[in-house]
Amino acid sequence: MATLLTQYQLKHHTVKNRLVVPPIVCFGYAGKEGYVSEKHIKHYERLAGGGAGIVIAEAACVSKDARLSEDQLGIWDNAFIPGLSGLASVIHSHNAVALIQIHHAGTRVDRNVSDTPLAPSDMTTNDGRRAKALTLEQIADISEDFTRAALRAKEAGFDGVELHACHKYLICQFLSPITNKRRDEYGADKAKFASDIIGNIRRACGGEFIIGVRMGGNDPDLKGAIRYARAFEEAGADILHISTGYKDYKPQDLDYTENEYYNWIVRSGIVIERNVHIPVIVVNGVRKPEQAAYIIEEGLADFVAAAKGLLVDEAWLAKIQNNEPVVLCDGCRRCRWFIKPETCPHYRV
Ligand SMILES: Cc1cc2nc3c(=O)[nH]c(=O)nc-3n(C[C@H](O)[C@H](O)[C@H](O)COP(=O)(O)O)c2cc1C
Ligand code: SF4
Repeated sequence: MATLLTQYQLKHHTVKNRLVVPPIVCFGYAGKEGYVSEKHIKHYERLAGGGAGIVIAEAACVSKDARLSEDQLGIWDNAFIPGLSGLASVIHSHNAVALIQIHHAGTRVDRNVSDTPLAPSDMTTNDGRRAKALTLEQIADISEDFTRAALRAKEAGFDGVELHACHKYLICQFLSPITNKRRDEYGADKAKFASDIIGNIRRACGGEFIIGVRMGGNDPDLKGAIRYARAFEEAGADILHISTGYKDYKPQDLDYTENEYYNWIVRSGIVIERNVHIPVIVVNGVRKPEQAAYIIEEGLADFVAAAKGLLVDEAWLAKIQNNEPVVLCDGCRRCRWFIKPETCPHYRV
C-alpha cells in the first residue's frame, strides 16, 4: 500500500513523496514588470521547505498582453530567465521536482493590461468587453508563445511545465463548448489547441522534460473531461492535475457521495485517474493531512495537492511523522484575493 511518504518514479525523477504544492499566484510579489522578487524566493523557500515532492510554481504569463493582473509573474521574455532560475533552484534545494505553470488569461485579461481580450469565439466578457475570435494566425502565435515559455522554463532549470488549461482562462475556453463555438478544426476538436501545444513543447524541450496539464474534471462533463484527458495523454502529457473547467459546478454524470475525505472536484480527478495511464494529481478542499493520506492509502490518486492547507502550514509531512498538530486553514476565504497575503490570520513570511 502506498502512503503519502511513498516515492513515485516520474520519468527520470524519483519524486520523494505524494504531496504537491499546486500553483498559487502571489499577487503583488512580481511588481508591474513581472520579475521574480525576493518575496517570491522566501515564499517558495518556505513552501518547498515543507517537504512536498512536487512544487508547481505559480501561473506565469506567456505573453505580456495576456496577464490576469498587472503584477503577474512573467515568462514571455528571456529577461525573466535569471529570476526564474532562482525559483527553480530554491525548489530543487529541497529535493522537490520543480514545475512552473504557464498561462494565458484569454478573456480574463486584466482591463489595465488589454481592452481587447482574446477568445476562441466572439463573446462579451463578464465586465462587458467585446472579445474577438482568434484568427488561425493568432492561434499559431499563441501556441508559439507557450513553446517559447516552456523553453525558458527549461533554461531556468525547471524540470517541466504545467499548462494552465482550467479556471476559465484561454486554453480552458478552447475546451469548453460554452466559449468555443468555432466552425473550424479547433471547434470540431476542442482539445486540439492544447494537444498541439503539448506536442510542440515535447518536440522543443525533449523527451525528459515533464509536461503537465491542469484541466477541469467537469467541463463539458465528466465523460468529456475523460476524453480530453486521454487526448492529452496521447499528445504526450506526463501528468494531469484535475481542478474545475469553465463551469464551476458538479457535472451531472459524476457519481459522488458526500464524505469527510474529499469533495466532488477531487472525485472527478479520482475517476479520471482510472481512465488514463499517466499519473493524476487531485486537488481542492484537502485541508488536513488525514484527507491526503486517505486518498493515497486507498489508491484513489497518485498525488494530492493542497493550496490553502500548505499556505497556512507547509510542514504537514514532518508534523504527521512527529505526531505534532498541524495549523489548519479556517476557510475564511480572504486568500481568494491574495493581494494582501498578510490578511491571512496565519500568514508568516
Ligand atoms: C491565493 C491563490 C492563488 C492561486 N493561484 C493559482 C494559480 O496560479 N494557478 C492555478 O491553476 N490555480 C491557482 N489557485 C487555485 C489553487 O491551486 C487550488 O486549486 C485551489 O486553491 C483549491 O485548492 P485548496 O482547497 O487546497 O486551496 C490559487 C488559489 C489561491 C488561494
Ligand atoms: S486567508 Fe483564510 S482561507 Fe486563505 S489560507 Fe488563510 S485561513 Fe485559509
